[in-house]
Amino acid sequence: MKTQYIILSLIIFCNLSLQAQQVTIPIETQNSAVVLQTDNNKRLKIVYTGKSLKNSADYAGTEKVFLLNSQGAASNNNAFTVAGIDNNFTEPAIAVVHVDGNNSLDLLYKSHNITATADGAILTTITLKDPVYPFFVDLLYKTWKEEDIIEQWTSIYHEEKGEVILNKYASANLYLYNKDYYLTSYNGSWAREMQPVETHLRQGMHTIESRLGTRENLLTSPNFMLSLDGKATETTGTVMMGQIAWNGNFSLQFETDVYKNLHVVAGINPYQSVYHLKPNIPFETPRFVYTVSFEGVGKGSRNMQNWMRNHTLIDGKGDRLTLLNNWEATYFDFDQEELVALFKGANELGVDMFLLDDGWFANKYPRDHDRAGLGDWEPNHKKLPDGIPYLVKEAGKQGVKFGIWIEPEMINPRSELYEKHLDWVLRQDNRPEIYFRSQLVLDLTNPEVQDFVFGIVDNLFTENPELAFIKWDCNAPIFNGHSKYLEKKNVPQSHLYVEYTRGLEKVLKRVRQKYPKVPMMLCSGGGGRTDFSLFRFFTEFWPSDNTDPLERVFIQWNSSYYYPAMTMCNHVTNWSNKPLKYKVDVASMGKLGFDIKVNELSEADLAFCKNAVANYNQFKHTVWHGDIYRLMNPYDNDFASLMFVNDAKTEAVVFNYLTNWRYVAETTIRPIKLQGLDPSKKYKITEINLYENQREFIDPTVIYSGDFLMKVGINPMINLSRTSVVLKIQAI
Ligand code: DGJ
Repeated sequence: MKTQYIILSLIIFCNLSLQAQQVTIPIETQNSAVVLQTDNNKRLKIVYTGKSLKNSADYAGTEKVFLLNSQGAASNNNAFTVAGIDNNFTEPAIAVVHVDGNNSLDLLYKSHNITATADGAILTTITLKDPVYPFFVDLLYKTWKEEDIIEQWTSIYHEEKGEVILNKYASANLYLYNKDYYLTSYNGSWAREMQPVETHLRQGMHTIESRLGTRENLLTSPNFMLSLDGKATETTGTVMMGQIAWNGNFSLQFETDVYKNLHVVAGINPYQSVYHLKPNIPFETPRFVYTVSFEGVGKGSRNMQNWMRNHTLIDGKGDRLTLLNNWEATYFDFDQEELVALFKGANELGVDMFLLDDGWFANKYPRDHDRAGLGDWEPNHKKLPDGIPYLVKEAGKQGVKFGIWIEPEMINPRSELYEKHLDWVLRQDNRPEIYFRSQLVLDLTNPEVQDFVFGIVDNLFTENPELAFIKWDCNAPIFNGHSKYLEKKNVPQSHLYVEYTRGLEKVLKRVRQKYPKVPMMLCSGGGGRTDFSLFRFFTEFWPSDNTDPLERVFIQWNSSYYYPAMTMCNHVTNWSNKPLKYKVDVASMGKLGFDIKVNELSEADLAFCKNAVANYNQFKHTVWHGDIYRLMNPYDNDFASLMFVNDAKTEAVVFNYLTNWRYVAETTIRPIKLQGLDPSKKYKITEINLYENQREFIDPTVIYSGDFLMKVGINPMINLSRTSVVLKIQAI
């Protein structure tokens, strides 16, 4: 009896002391939490994901209520799933081969610390270590409390005597305890970017990935929207929204298990990318950035936009330049005189800048079409005998700034650069070259090539200190990629995709060190390259070459879930026969630009455009810095309606577009409820962007309460003769 008592006491003591050692680490934002906890074997588990609790001590109890002690989910809920040991069969986040050839990994909790970062976030670093090998993974969680954003990534390092092979090296691993998941991802191709695809996740794996190397969003975007408990709407439901912020091959894996829990693994795509990691050199993975909203996707998108503008986007609180671009107006066919004539148009419209697009460079193989000249960044003497300084000066005389297009990572085989530096080109010596838009990609793993690319930007600014803007294009993915530089350095070719992306980041960092604020547009044959990692260097992006305004309503709508309007460059062009007003109104819900020959506009059209630019200058700060509310979804209605509200709730702009050219559009029947206003404020509504003789349908003398506008709404009277309507709402 006595012995039994002693044994029982010992068991209880052991259990208690094990429990005493149990570590619970909540990763919290204002509204959401991910809770990590060690189990009895020191393995780190995800024991809760959901709303944050008032009292942090309460998180310790979450594990019990999910019954994770039982066999089953408790083996799937790893904080960072390893390959090669354990009774876990879900998708690994990491898979390695040690120096001795052993291909198993075990990761046990070693320590953690929590610090405040200089930029105002909280960083939690958790170190995991293999009990047998000196191999470590730091799990990093940077939380932005106010904006409800978590950035999650890893740092992988070891002290083994040689190189450890990383077959997979994800940024993030999550385990969600919800039960009805709808995933929206975005597919597309040139001129059809950001097309949403909704998938009801069932047991098994769903992957979103890119293997294009550069221009990596061409077919699939790194953004996702995941409704966690049935379909979320704009204003209701629980939804996780985010992206893997890696300007290279990415992979987002969503694996629903037999318990209806969802295992998420996000990071660099391991496709053709086995990485040989030397001792004591940490491999830092890209950030997986996400927010969880319990009030629908509208709140989620505002979280991300606020986070970008407040913390990561260059000049997120600053200004942007309206512009006139010459791409669709001239394509490659222009000369100095014609350009100077176009500057006059920029002045007449009242925009801030003229942007010279492709076709201005190369002499031996002039850039008169897209099959020659890329790589030879000297102004073409025939088209521009007086060079770029002359153009900057002439633009200045018209009161407009001057910006320029480059595509510095690329090369046409018909170029002097190709003749001089075949070793700088990603290509296979023993295979035929494969082209995309008649071009190949330069080897940015090579520091000499990095200098060359940096030099293109630097030379332009050195020669033209007043240069106001760069449009950085990228029109080809990597085909048949092989790096002569990596070969020379005895680095495996499987490092190419990773080192290319790192090489580009190095160049962009140098550009930003020297030119911290100059606006730069991120373009990739349209929207083939947008992710948060690049917005540390770019102020804006070109969502698509498709400038048909009806298509743009949809492309901009989908982009608006992730990126603030101030980053979205929208140009009025001759693409499509939609009314000019429709085009201008659509382009105004972002960063307004034109790509037309202004002297070909009728008098009435010119007057309309000038007035619209003046109106834009009045409300642009609300669009750029305000909160977005999507009111009527064009996927569910015959029209789209969305609005921007400034912080003080004293000004709002509502954009409305017919999207289905039917006889009776539904909007004529009932009002649209506004959002984001102050219910107790009084507002007046003015319809703007009207032609001189156009009839006003909205009576500007009527005063509405915010309460009325949000509960009853306002009817913009969209119909076949009023296909787009812009309403300015001002508190009185
Ligand atoms: C692709 C871009 O998306 C266009 O806007 C234009 O700059 C062309 N490239 C120029 O070649």
